[in-house]
Amino acid sequence: MFFTLEGIDGSGKTTASKIVVERLKKEGHDIILTREPGGDHIAEQLRKFILSTDNSDIRPWTETMLYIAARKQHVDTMISPAIKSGKIVICDRFMDSTTSYQGYGRKLDVDKIDKIQELLLEDNMPTKTFFFDIAPDKVVSRVNNRGELDRLEQEGLAFQEKVYKGYKELVRKYPNRFVTINADQVQEKVAEDLYKEITKVLK
Ligand code: TMP
Repeated sequence: MFFTLEGIDGSGKTTASKIVVERLKKEGHDIILTREPGGDHIAEQLRKFILSTDNSDIRPWTETMLYIAARKQHVDTMISPAIKSGKIVICDRFMDSTTSYQGYGRKLDVDKIDKIQELLLEDNMPTKTFFFDIAPDKVVSRVNNRGELDRLEQEGLAFQEKVYKGYKELVRKYPNRFVTINADQVQEKVAEDLYKEITKVLK
């Protein structure tokens, strides 16, 4: 089983996933929680490079290919072996982040991004993708209070609006894979809803 979590910055998926994974582990599930960009030591180094504010002049396709390169490394070294050994994998962001942020956010050709990702990810596609749905204007202050913002967080509200619209489009395009979680609720309730949706699939 391979589950991915998606949403704009500040949508609460990281907090909810930690709560849910602890609960599922206590129940005896063999489960790993990982994130993108990142995962193994090479992808984590790519993460630092991609998010560094020193690289604000990076070109959109360079950015895109680095996210995808980090993903391929993560899939080959961690995600695919874990799925094959029967573990449940939960990944905080995956391929839909690239489609939403770079495709819709940066206005790159979404079909091109889809083709590159399909070619490289092969059958390592998520079983289900949970979209944490909350409007960008409701979380802008949450993100701004994080202190030092990374390169993507610095893009601001107008960019997050485009990314959000991108996600909504993907939810419409892939109704069987996407499950929407109402992220405009207290954290405990968001985590509870995620737990319920995951256990529905595990049964
Ligand atoms: P995080 O803050 O959720 O760890 O993700 C880092 C940032 O990178 C976040 O602003 C979303 C962005 N991102 C992309 O733009 N494209 C991608 O493919 C991924 C995985 C993340």
